Amino acid sequence: MISPSPYIFVVGGAGYIGSHVVRQLLLDGYRVLVLDNFIYGHRDILEKALNVEYIEGDMGDRALLDRLFSTYKIDVVMHFAAFAYVGESVTDPAKYYQNNVVATLTLLESMRAAGVDKFVFSSTCATYGIPSQIPILEDHPQSPINPYGATKLMVERILQDFGTAYNLKSVVFRYFNAAGADPSGQLGEDHGPETHLIPLVLQTALGLRSHISIFGTDYSTPDGTCIRDYIHVNDLASAHILGSQHLLEGGESETFNLGNGSGFSVKQVIESAYEVTGREIPVRYEARRPGDPPMLIGSAEKASRVLGWTPQYTQINEIIAHAWLWHQKRHGNTSSFLSGDATDRESKDVFDVRDDSGYFNFRRASAA
Ligand code: UFG
Repeated sequence: MISPSPYIFVVGGAGYIGSHVVRQLLLDGYRVLVLDNFIYGHRDILEKALNVEYIEGDMGDRALLDRLFSTYKIDVVMHFAAFAYVGESVTDPAKYYQNNVVATLTLLESMRAAGVDKFVFSSTCATYGIPSQIPILEDHPQSPINPYGATKLMVERILQDFGTAYNLKSVVFRYFNAAGADPSGQLGEDHGPETHLIPLVLQTALGLRSHISIFGTDYSTPDGTCIRDYIHVNDLASAHILGSQHLLEGGESETFNLGNGSGFSVKQVIESAYEVTGREIPVRYEARRPGDPPMLIGSAEKASRVLGWTPQYTQINEIIAHAWLWHQKRHGNTSSFLSGDATDRESKDVFDVRDDSGYFNFRRASAA
């Protein structure tokens, strides 16, 4: 650490990735102030799991931000407060442009007025759109195919221009698929509604959902299902520590991919969850989900070279095991189904047969 105790302002610190970063910052001795409006974030995580100082409020509230920046001598701002439901961004783009772009601009304007010039931004591989090269490098053309990705790309552009004009220094992290949970089981992924694969699979293993839907089995991948690069949330957190150190040491603005550089198909993720949990995971094959690229795998060679970042969790089973611990603690006692209909459980496919390709197949339980 450079100065005795830099002050980090974590916007959206009660969410999934933000909370893991807060935990790591506190462990490393940073001073931390969280801002969260609790639309999607969890107050209990801040109060019970993290015991961190927080303010309830919105990053679009300029008067509040100005007050905070004049009260606290903030060194670095980290921003985890975007809305991140890809499907919703298509049906309600105004909500996404308003929060992810307009409110972010308000935050940046307040920082500028207060003379705070270091910013760590959560961007996404969704800014690349359908990739033409795998693994994806940072200079791959960015052509997002949904408003969510577009909002992130717009902020990346704003940061470039603020860097040139106002000398704002920023580190932009383009996450691949954030996954896993803190091994303590105290923090983890809890979106409402949940749309991400691993939490849905684990909720199915817990019996909270009747089945997991596999969106598309006809992709040009070895088993026909989409491939993603799953990166442990604590590895994302360690990158944020290194990114803020980079800025505190006077480093230039940089953009980094954060991924493991290897991909797992939807079927492989379910296979891994089956191995980890030992539970039945009924599946149902469904049509493709609009806007899903067949394969997203990132190269994080630049983050390794420039920041010295090395992911600690490269095994999908370990990533899922940590998520499983969290889901058991968070939802283990919930008896009601979150969605789906338990009564038609018999008609679902059951996950249990491995074929010659090494992938698990699924058979109809009713035909067994
Ligand atoms: N999937 C299913 N069934 C489900 C849920 C997901 O088959 O019930 C599949 C998806 O079709 C996709 C894969 O599992 O092929 C992963 O889906 P997620 O929803 O877990 O994550 P995404 O790949 O859609 O994540 C994308 C980007 C991220 C971005 C995120 C925003 O890769 O960069 O959307 O939520 F941050």
